[in-house]
Amino acid sequence: MIETPHIKCNKEDISDVVLMPGDPLRAKFIAETYLDDYKLVNDVRNMLAYTGYYKGKKITIFSSGMGMASMGIYCYELYKFFDVKYIIRIGSCGSINKEIKLLDTILSTSSYTETNFSYTYSSKNINEVESSKYLNNIILNKDSKIKKGKTACSMVFDAYIENKDDYNTRLPKDIIASEMEAFALFYIAKLLNKEASCLLTVSDSLYDNKKISSIERQINLKHMIEIALETCLEVE
Ligand code: HPA
Repeated sequence: MIETPHIKCNKEDISDVVLMPGDPLRAKFIAETYLDDYKLVNDVRNMLAYTGYYKGKKITIFSSGMGMASMGIYCYELYKFFDVKYIIRIGSCGSINKEIKLLDTILSTSSYTETNFSYTYSSKNINEVESSKYLNNIILNKDSKIKKGKTACSMVFDAYIENKDDYNTRLPKDIIASEMEAFALFYIAKLLNKEASCLLTVSDSLYDNKKISSIERQINLKHMIEIALETCLEVE
């Protein structure tokens, strides 16, 4: 049994391939819907994690919580203490680009942040980090409609930013969507020589106030989850 400050489980109960949704109940849903012989392997702080088999491949679904701080804790401990090699975040994002529509599936090829995460972490001023080309190649082969590009990673939920225009003006112009965890994941993966990527579905948009039905959202999420699971089958 390994006990880190935030994870308590047997090392062999964590696969070297991990999918990370933000929401613990989504981790439960994915395990119940897609995995055979799954079991709950972590419940410290209710950050639920399940390990089971997808088409015979051992996979762990580990929730990350929200924000870089939470993601940073869990991905660090998984890579460092549980010998995880591959993590794919599966989450939601806001579109800040007219071409990126509600319910699109996005692959984050790099994450930009104006925060000082890298400075605190390793005394470096780095604001952009790429995801794993190895994982991205596998992912992109699964669905030609995935839109790929640079995403922004913030410490404040978009809708709550006081001066949204200022923020958007400061961001690089080629950013397609905004979320809150990918930079921490990609940065830590890079420092530890591991692989990380991030698939997102667009749940809100600067350019479209339309409410999406829960059915539409569910279908779309399932599509993203299935791409991530199928990708796990191909990593070695
Ligand atoms: N910003 C950050 N994270 C998100 C958003 C957003 O607009 N939508 C879904 N996750």
